[in-house]
Amino acid sequence: MPVRVSALSTVIRERRTTRMFLPDRPVPRDLLDEALELAMRAPSNSNIQPWRLFLATGARRKRLGEELMRRASAGFPATAGIPESFAALRRELGAVVYGSMGVARDDAEARRLAQLRNFDFFGAPTAGAICMHRDLGHADSLAVGMFLQTLLLAPTERGLATCVQVSVAHFPDVLRDGLEIPDELRVLCGLGIGYADPDFPTNHLRIPRNPVAANVVLLDD
Ligand SMILES: Cc1cc2nc3c(=O)[nH]c(=O)nc-3n(C[C@H](O)[C@H](O)[C@H](O)COP(=O)(O)O)c2cc1C
Repeated sequence: MPVRVSALSTVIRERRTTRMFLPDRPVPRDLLDEALELAMRAPSNSNIQPWRLFLATGARRKRLGEELMRRASAGFPATAGIPESFAALRRELGAVVYGSMGVARDDAEARRLAQLRNFDFFGAPTAGAICMHRDLGHADSLAVGMFLQTLLLAPTERGLATCVQVSVAHFPDVLRDGLEIPDELRVLCGLGIGYADPDFPTNHLRIPRNPVAANVVLLDD
């Protein structure tokens, strides 16, 4: 069977994180259903399909964003510590993303306000959280990641935009209440889906990647 590598490659290259959605342009239900069906094809250890996704639209989505904003306005934690070897990449990303929003490097208040927009899912009309059972392990979270990657690619192929957001997971209780997430699940991160605002420069960024050799060891001896 011929493999249509080019279509997949194009979608992979096209996908990017969107940080300003058109809030009044909803995600067509048929496109969302197609994307979810495709994402469900992700592989998983023993085919346990450990991903659990909770999405809200309409009034519930609005309430969720309002409550997250209310909580985050009172303060949200700084980004979690990471090993020093990764810190430069994080700083570079911050400079590019906030720079594209016109936020000066030393303007802490402007940066806080820009970060605060995370908590309204950047205006995404469909938004929620991806979760996994508390007692599952790292290998299972790989499967959740595979589900999520397809759930970024399939919407991209359909002209939609996405944003994965660990930021909202700082308030798991708000997500739990707002999305009726059962206690046995751990909230891993948030997700927004919608149409990108084409006039927001940040949405057009193309974030660079390491050269393959920096991340991959290929031994051949
Ligand atoms: C697990 C995960 C969590 C993320 N959390 C956030 C977030 O809280 N806020 C945000 O603006 N972007 C977030 N992102 C988006 C990343 O910053 C983005 O994927 C990365 O900079 C590469 O850019 P690209 O997706 O445009 O290629 C997250 C991405 C992943 C995979």
